[in-house]
Amino acid sequence: MKVFVPFRLDTLNQCLWRRRDTGPEERILLRPKSFLVLAYLVENAGRLVTHDELLEAVWSDSVVEPQAVKRHVLTVRSALGDRPKNPIFIETMPKRGYRFIAPVSAPVAAKCPEGAIGQARDLVGRGSAFEVLREMWRRVLNGERQVVFITGEPGIGKTALAEEFQRQVAVAERSVHIAHGQCIEGYGSKEPYGPMLDALGRLCRGPQGEPLVQILSAEAPTWLAQLPSLLTREHREMLHREILGATRERMLREIGDALESFTAETPLLLVFEDLHWVDDSTVDLISALARRRHPAKLMFLGTCRPLYTRSSPHPLGALMRDLVVRRFCREIALTSLNESEVEEYLGAQSPTSRPPQGLSAFVHRHSEGNPLFMVAALEHMAKRGLLSRVDGFWQLRGPLEQIEFEVPDDLRHLIEAQLEQLSAAEQRELEKASIVGAVFSERLIGCSEDIRSHNSEDLYEDLSRRHHIVKWAGTHSFPDGSTTERYEFAHVLYRQVLYDRQLPARRARLHRQVGERLAAMYERRIEDVVPELAYHFEQAGDWPRAIEFLQQAADLAVRRYAYRQAGAMLARALELVIHLPETGRIRTEPQLLATLAALRRETFDLRAIGTYDRMR
Ligand SMILES: Nc1ncnc2c1ncn2[C@@H]1O[C@H](COP(=O)(O)OP(=O)(O)OP(=O)(O)O)[C@@H](O)[C@H]1O
Ligand SMILES: [Mg+2]
Repeated sequence: MKVFVPFRLDTLNQCLWRRRDTGPEERILLRPKSFLVLAYLVENAGRLVTHDELLEAVWSDSVVEPQAVKRHVLTVRSALGDRPKNPIFIETMPKRGYRFIAPVSAPVAAKCPEGAIGQARDLVGRGSAFEVLREMWRRVLNGERQVVFITGEPGIGKTALAEEFQRQVAVAERSVHIAHGQCIEGYGSKEPYGPMLDALGRLCRGPQGEPLVQILSAEAPTWLAQLPSLLTREHREMLHREILGATRERMLREIGDALESFTAETPLLLVFEDLHWVDDSTVDLISALARRRHPAKLMFLGTCRPLYTRSSPHPLGALMRDLVVRRFCREIALTSLNESEVEEYLGAQSPTSRPPQGLSAFVHRHSEGNPLFMVAALEHMAKRGLLSRVDGFWQLRGPLEQIEFEVPDDLRHLIEAQLEQLSAAEQRELEKASIVGAVFSERLIGCSEDIRSHNSEDLYEDLSRRHHIVKWAGTHSFPDGSTTERYEFAHVLYRQVLYDRQLPARRARLHRQVGERLAAMYERRIEDVVPELAYHFEQAGDWPRAIEFLQQAADLAVRRYAYRQAGAMLARALELVIHLPETGRIRTEPQLLATLAALRRETFDLRAIGTYDRMR
């Protein structure tokens, strides 16, 4: 028996358990080979285990590709909630193997320091932000719900802070749920309650999913009905009868109740990323969750860029102001790093030696204290050989005044320069990945022949290790049961630069390919990807399919009582109708107008009158 908090590895019965504060331990399911990989790494904790050694230990009876080892390690990491960057359990030693780095002990000795959230790793200048978060978390453990928004400019470190806080919470608590929802940029891809359904879906499919599905079934059937992949056909039909005539208010009330039951004992940290792209329904949801006064061990943490928009006020802006005034939420507004914080960062990069004279001032001036810019500038200097750390000692190639000319002083150009360091094939594949979105998998990209024979997953894994451009984002299952590794851009700006530099015709062609692949893979669960399909086909200029999927997305929104969003999607479809040939337009336009008019009439929207007029 081995323990690495909060897990217990029962080697005799080949089970992995995760501890909880109360109630029984939860069992984490692992396939036999994945279990053996984990057991071997834990058995040899602290030392490098090479690929060959793992192959020999786990597959001595059969011949397998070295690739299998990597796949099983990824599965294990995903089960432990670990990540290749900043791992707390399994560290990858590039080109050599793996090392289990968490302290391992016998069960009696394993006592978790509850609530003792440790120090931030790698991040500088965020001490007071962590203080606020830790204080809020202490309140959560006492049953006081907390809502916090981390705000600031792109690249200021919102995601880094949120991720580090999640890591600390996961390490400190014996039993905690952490759920993650992502807001997506772009018009058609905005799905009502997208981030919440994303988070619920992952929780329900996770090792602790069953109790949550039961709570949703009893207290939030309107939500369970939105997660069809978790239900049998009979259950789905029964639910649909049960929720007939439900309303938006009922949906909000139900999720509030369900989350209170779910967090009565085990705390939940609910993280929504990039709220500047939030959909209207999710704004209502955050508002409802923040205003409820019933006890809940619930912390909602949202990250958000500044909300000024040129045209209309952002719906979240008004909500945040109101919640702050009523003290229903806190805002942590991140600011740029100062010169001594940049110096601290450089110091942490090479603790054995001081950074060269003037380097922190140079980096600070150049990046204006923006961490993303700072990291990118240092990587650029390192890759160009302008700056190096040999045996822990910093070395500058020449005087800083000269180097100044070689480091672009605008983030976009700097990113361009970083990309130029990659091979032509790597750049081409990354450009394709940028079409898929901020998160992508090789299966959706469809790599070119030369890369495919080399293995494209290797390419992304290699890129994620060598450069600060993409990072591993977990293992993902497709409806047909196959799995794939997902990667994400280290920052949206990388995606943006790669996307923008492609010619429109190429982008359109690739969007169509991605849309077709996605539709084929999700043939049986098309609902899961309808908004994404609408986006890809619109970008492809494939108007019939874009309109078709916008209509389906509007249907989906209606089923979630998100009438405003459904109306917006239909209105968008109507704008696209103009691109259809005459015959198609004559058929489609009246249909769309009729649906939109009916929707507006249902919601007492006076624009219904005008819509009916257009139909005549
Ligand atoms: N305090 C910090 N110390 C050191 N590095 C940091 C710090 N904050 C962020 N970074 C690094 O800067 C980069 C950008 O940070 P991050 O992605 O968190 O920005 P962001 O605010 O979430 O941006 P966006 O608004 O685009 O989502 C990351 O590589 C991250 O590791
Ligand atoms: Mg971010």
